[in-house]
Amino acid sequence: MSIILWSMSNSIHPTWLEIDLSSIRNNIFQLQNISGTSVMAVIKANAYGHGIVETARAAEKAGVKWLGVARLDEAVLLRQQGIKTDILILGHTMPEGAKIAANLNICVTIHNIETYNLYNDQARQISTPLRAHLKIDSGMGRLGFFDQESIPFLQEICRHSKIRIEGIFTHLAKADEPATGTTELQLLNFNQILENLEERNCHFQWVHAANSAASIIFPKSRYNLIRPGIAIYGLNPSEEVPVPHEFQVALSWKTTLTSVKNMPAGTGISYGHKYFTRATERIGVISVGYGDGFRRVPDNEVLIRGKRVPVIGTVCMDQCMILLDEVEKAIPGDDVVLIGKQGDVEIRAEEVAGRWGTIAYEVTCGLAARIPRIYINP
Ligand SMILES: Cc1ncc(COP(=O)(O)O)c(C=O)c1O
Repeated sequence: MSIILWSMSNSIHPTWLEIDLSSIRNNIFQLQNISGTSVMAVIKANAYGHGIVETARAAEKAGVKWLGVARLDEAVLLRQQGIKTDILILGHTMPEGAKIAANLNICVTIHNIETYNLYNDQARQISTPLRAHLKIDSGMGRLGFFDQESIPFLQEICRHSKIRIEGIFTHLAKADEPATGTTELQLLNFNQILENLEERNCHFQWVHAANSAASIIFPKSRYNLIRPGIAIYGLNPSEEVPVPHEFQVALSWKTTLTSVKNMPAGTGISYGHKYFTRATERIGVISVGYGDGFRRVPDNEVLIRGKRVPVIGTVCMDQCMILLDEVEKAIPGDDVVLIGKQGDVEIRAEEVAGRWGTIAYEVTCGLAARIPRIYINP
């Protein structure tokens, strides 16, 4: 019988995320340099899985002017944790939340007449001003005022509102597909509304449109504030618009090899026995599963001892199996990389996304809350 030793893992956690905050700061500096404008760091959805509070602190250190979130709860958490930077809720705020937003100096988005009226009712009941940005739908088909007929209303609220309108923005649907011409069209629509409002003496302190892709390749979309998300984390908006090479990936996902067994030919592995060993095979077990956000699909791969190995059989909730025939030296306790580098080999979130039929955004947003986040270079 072979004796298998136990190596000491670098973590007490069976699976964990390592997030390098200096990479996040570096990426924000790069975006500031490329664009020459102020930055709103988009840190919604727990900062795309990276941890909203720590990312907000890194962004503050890097000198961002704004933080962008999707929901009031996210903004409230940031204020509770002592974040002082201006925060804009990019999505819909329930009218009942308007007072909380005003009291915590959180800026809301006004995207239609009905919610404006409800916010206004709330704003009348408090002395602290409610701050807001107007949202224009220039071609995303999501939230926002979308036609020239809205102009008289926008003019009215800019000049006479109880609500302090500080900015105006739009969101681009295809900035990561630059050849389509959609971004130029959207900017044309947005500029027409801006000009129309300027002519009516409505001026805005902040004008913004650019997500990561646009920040990198569409100078005309930058106005006086850019609104990048994915690039802050060092990930590519798309294959057509990768981040420049100075950007650094911030997140690695690791786990531990917990068992190694030589299994005879014909052994069924995992639920449903979707995999049978073809000869005696070295089968490893790792401590990660779909309960952590590792998808239950075939053809996953991981890194161990600087080599790529396949995940075999069905991914379970908390564990899955890997084939170690090519890595004879692997022993329980070894670190295993799901996303990140080991030696000269790397698995990027974009590669995992390709296997899962999705985008890197969904891969990192889907990393379960139960995985501990370990922060490097705070
Ligand atoms: C309104 C808004 N602005 C900016 C962003 C950031 O986009 P990206 O992560 O592509 O830079 C998003 C992300 O979905 C968004 O919804």
